[in-house]
Amino acid sequence: MEIRRLAPADGPAYRALRLRALREHPDAFTSSYEEDVQQPLQVSFARLASPLYAFWGAVQGDELYGMVGLEHEQRAKNRHKGSVIGMYVTPEVTGQGVGRALLQALVVHARGAGIASLVLTVTEGNAHAWRLYAGAGFRSFGIEPDAIRVEGQPFAKNHMHLDLSQAP
Ligand SMILES: CC(C)(COP(=O)(O)OP(=O)(O)OC[C@H]1O[C@@H](n2cnc3c(N)ncnc32)[C@H](O)[C@@H]1OP(=O)(O)O)[C@@H](O)C(=O)NCCC(=O)NCCS
Repeated sequence: MEIRRLAPADGPAYRALRLRALREHPDAFTSSYEEDVQQPLQVSFARLASPLYAFWGAVQGDELYGMVGLEHEQRAKNRHKGSVIGMYVTPEVTGQGVGRALLQALVVHARGAGIASLVLTVTEGNAHAWRLYAGAGFRSFGIEPDAIRVEGQPFAKNHMHLDLSQAP
């Protein structure tokens, strides 16, 4: 399995995997399948080309099996920060270290880009994702109740932080 940066040419595969993630795990993401499926492919191309984002994929042959994104803050007071977004690994290859490898690629890039602080949110009860992030050094700094609602059901979100200014 190769971990590499995604480019605009990966737009169709990125969009398909993102929609699968949103459809299969509605409580794991803030975006929803129902809203995102309305967006044209052009939105995916634009996201992959944007300097505000970087995405990595887990690729084997022509297939995309996993992905993660980094959203880099831009304003003077918060451009030391980045957000980890859209982490997803297909069930065919979970539990084999693909998520960890994607996160590692993102962290290496973030350090190189001078980012000092990474943040993310993980839905309370998503033990698999929580362990992935805790294992990479992320620490919880609070739980937001009623952070998202899926078909009217409230879910809390755990906010996690990784200090990149410390030595790895
Ligand atoms: C969460 C997710 C990204 C993990 O991907 P993955 O490739 O299976 O993760 P890894 O194999 O790299 O495992 C990383 C850590 O997760 C934990 N883990 C792995 N498999 C697990 C399992 N079946 N149950 C619980 N924890 C598990 C382990 O702590 C592992 O570290 P270890 O090997 O040192 O014990 C993947 O399951 C997924 O996409 N889930 C659905 C969408 C989602 O929840 N995304 C996160 C949104 S915040």
